[in-house]
Amino acid sequence: MRRIAILTAGGDTPALNATIYGAVARANQLKVEVYGIIKGFSGMLNPTVPHVHLNPLFSSIPELDPCVGGTILGASRDYIDPSQKEVLKQVAYRLGRLGIDGLICIGGDGTINGMQPLAQYFPCVLAPKTIDNDLGLNYLDEPNEWIREAGEKPGTWKYSRQGERDEIRLDDIVNFATPGYATAVYVAAGGIDRIRTTAESHRRIAIVEVMGRQSGYIALGSAYGQPDIILIPEVRMNFEKLERRVRELYELQKNVVIVIGEGVRDEEGRELGAMSASHDPAGNVIFSGAAEHLAVMLGNTFGDKYFLDKRRHDKAKSAIFTRKVGHTQRGGRPIAFDRFYAAQLGGKAVELLVQGYNNSIATLQWSEQGGFKLDSILANTLRDPYQNIRPRELHPSFYDPVRFQPSKLGIEYLTKIFTDAIGHDDVESIRTSQFHPGNLTNRYRGFNISMHKRIQRLGGEGDDDLATGATG
Ligand code: F6P
Repeated sequence: MRRIAILTAGGDTPALNATIYGAVARANQLKVEVYGIIKGFSGMLNPTVPHVHLNPLFSSIPELDPCVGGTILGASRDYIDPSQKEVLKQVAYRLGRLGIDGLICIGGDGTINGMQPLAQYFPCVLAPKTIDNDLGLNYLDEPNEWIREAGEKPGTWKYSRQGERDEIRLDDIVNFATPGYATAVYVAAGGIDRIRTTAESHRRIAIVEVMGRQSGYIALGSAYGQPDIILIPEVRMNFEKLERRVRELYELQKNVVIVIGEGVRDEEGRELGAMSASHDPAGNVIFSGAAEHLAVMLGNTFGDKYFLDKRRHDKAKSAIFTRKVGHTQRGGRPIAFDRFYAAQLGGKAVELLVQGYNNSIATLQWSEQGGFKLDSILANTLRDPYQNIRPRELHPSFYDPVRFQPSKLGIEYLTKIFTDAIGHDDVESIRTSQFHPGNLTNRYRGFNISMHKRIQRLGGEGDDDLATGATG
């Protein structure tokens, strides 16, 4: 393997540069050239395939800094449609012209679907990333539990599961944690911690929404910020029970902090975030979000009078407030756990390619005896018998629905990742860079301007010259 390509696909995470860094560092040792494809799969769909040589003379370019969040390669949510055979052939032809012998895709479940059709043309390996921590399995057999039957409309299917395990062991987990998750939890838990004191001072009920789509890992991890109640998408919300607990806590401590995963559903299975939709001036639907919907529900049940009688607030609306942690969860400097394992997984992906693996995923395993270690699986291991890849959901045994908190096993899971997740250098970085006087005088200097100057492109199709330094 003389030259490989690497790309970052899907939503970004703070650990992407660290993965690229680890891959390039290993490639330098093995004397493999690495080309970074700009903006994920969309870079391959572009006939000029904008790309950057990441290790000229087998040394990494200086823009590649594992401590910087985001991705120097840019990311997009474009994928290659496997049914478009001609497009696939063109992509393979273009990468062939670039002399690419193998491809590393840094991504999540969607990225595997984009990568797999290319695996018939050249070896492909996935290095995992996602703040949602939903790439992997709770145990090896999990995908095989899915069954399907014909849906009501012809040609549609209804999927359900049979034989789910009630209990799992932490050693059973396939891909214990994905790079990006730890930093997202660090940001979310910090936000919750800060919301608390203001909710406490002003006798308010704070509802904080965290990302994660249908997986509750970030919500569970936010327990480090000591919220009173955590709601996860995997356990349908019983409003009556929730309302009782909120009232109890508010009576006792005059404030309540609730964390809600963005994908939380009600007892009928309807996503809260999609329920109170309004329209913007252009007529587009705006989903208010799960937190906002829950605030309305609680406000209606408590009523203004409750807060007035307690002489705490005039209106339920001012007593109950919502915040989304939002994209701050996905940005900024990755903490040590993410940086370290992202770089390791990047290096592992290069090794897998060099060893001749194809359509495979580098994974991070954990075991009682050995702690964390790198491994790999075939991408199809994640597919159900009908070839679907589903996001990993938080196993129910990680959550205690009575206390709305992580269960004993959930706590064990979290502590493996987080107890030493912050490095001394992370703390030092806050101390030295947060209020650096230079921040006030120097404009933000990102990597895009400099990377842009490194972009190379393929000349016209059939033309074998590389046009260098072209705009992109
Ligand atoms: O999958 C990562 C994620 O951050 C989710 O947690 C979130 O729902 C989504 O991406 C947000 O995507 P975008 O930034 O494209 O709106």
